[in-house]
Amino acid sequence: MAEAGFSVTVPATTANLGPGFDHLGLALSLKMKIEATPALAWFIQYHDKEYASLPTDETNLIVQTIQQTAARYDQAVAPQKLVVYSDIPLGKGLGSSATAIAAGIEIANELADLQLSKLDKLCIGSEMEGHADNVTAALLGGMTVSYFTEEEMEVLTFPAPPIGVVIMVPPVALKTETSRGLLPEYLTHKEAIRGSAAGSLMTAAIANSDWVTAGRMMERDIYHEPYRKIGFPNFDEIRSACREVGAYGMTISGAGPSLFIAVPPETEQQVAALLDQRFPHYQAIAMQPAENGACVTK
Ligand code: HSE
Repeated sequence: MAEAGFSVTVPATTANLGPGFDHLGLALSLKMKIEATPALAWFIQYHDKEYASLPTDETNLIVQTIQQTAARYDQAVAPQKLVVYSDIPLGKGLGSSATAIAAGIEIANELADLQLSKLDKLCIGSEMEGHADNVTAALLGGMTVSYFTEEEMEVLTFPAPPIGVVIMVPPVALKTETSRGLLPEYLTHKEAIRGSAAGSLMTAAIANSDWVTAGRMMERDIYHEPYRKIGFPNFDEIRSACREVGAYGMTISGAGPSLFIAVPPETEQQVAALLDQRFPHYQAIAMQPAENGACVTK
């Protein structure tokens, strides 16, 4: 059982990549680091001011995840002080809650010596999130493709793809719940087949390192983009601008409100600078896919 301090580092993630709705996740090079040390009561200290609005007591999502994970195995954990450093924009479609959940599972595993397998962690995280895309990528790194139901969990991982990434972050946050509320309850059989074909071809193209095809399919989503894009200022203009500057494809990052743009390797800084200048409503951040998922350091 861990008594001295330790730390957990977890990457940001983007989900969906368009038609990979709820099952495709990609780890990114932004990250959250949490230092845990024993304390008399739970206390969370956030170093980034964007996180200042989050609870700093037991109601905090990281603590809730730690306690719920331990409770599944009839364990209780001693209170900790958690010091959190993060460069992941909060509530902006970069998996900040999945990152917190992945961190909570890893911390519970350490504190209660749960000896969780990879699959245990993936199942717990996906159940807590309600879908598998962000949390699998946060736990495993690289790109993940998941099949997750109440009864089954299967996850395949790919190494971090050789692309650059630009994320365009608007000033307002958006709750995933609100964004999911925009989605229709039903699609016709014909529509479902079209959506599935776009998702399958995109994933196959990524596996073949064919990002030109992957980028085209990324823009063929019918599961969520048509219902969500109305909330995005300049969505179509940004897509056209991305094509002009040679991006592979542009889509909503997770549930939004940020946009995910896949670009040829080592062009991300240049594309981010161009988009930042042209669309000042958004902050364009250049980054890369991340190879590593959640990692504990003692
Ligand atoms: N797949 C999820 C969605 C990601 O798009 O709603 C956000 O949690």
